[in-house]
Amino acid sequence: MENLERIYKFLEEAGTYYLATVEGDQPRVRAFGTVLLYEGKLYIQTGKIKAVSKQIKANPKVELCAFKDGKWLRLSGILERDERREVKKAMLDKMPTLRTMYNEDDGNTEVLYFKSGEATFSSFVAPSETVTF
Ligand SMILES: Cc1cc2nc3c(=O)[nH]c(=O)nc-3n(C[C@H](O)[C@H](O)[C@H](O)COP(=O)(O)O)c2cc1C
Repeated sequence: MENLERIYKFLEEAGTYYLATVEGDQPRVRAFGTVLLYEGKLYIQTGKIKAVSKQIKANPKVELCAFKDGKWLRLSGILERDERREVKKAMLDKMPTLRTMYNEDDGNTEVLYFKSGEATFSSFVAPSETVTF
């Protein structure tokens, strides 16, 4: 839990992270910003109609990278979709600007959490630190 909180805090403060998926043998990467800690799990949000969602469905192994104040985080792991309305609501309530595009009942909103993962915190001035959850 402590490790996840540290990852969550970093992603929150970075504001933007870059999420990589795979499509066949082709890496795909794009900017993401959604992040939520709920019931001790780290969630992200997307739309089921997006290519990124279809890629995660076909292969839930993802990696992301974020950078802030000379430090960076690389997180790899396996995502699992959570269809519970309460989690979608918690995500949209936390990030209300998403409500211009999404709502809990639109059949499109998708929240996913990391079932497991490995995160490495790095900087140019200190040794890297790797944590798992
Ligand atoms: C700063 C920033 C944050 C973003 N955050 C998200 C996000 O959390 N979830 C999401 O689905 N799209 C987000 N987007 C939009 C995606 O980057 C965009 O829809 C992208 O095309 C999705 O990847 P895909 O085309 O492979 O499906 C964000 C875009 C920017 C510029």
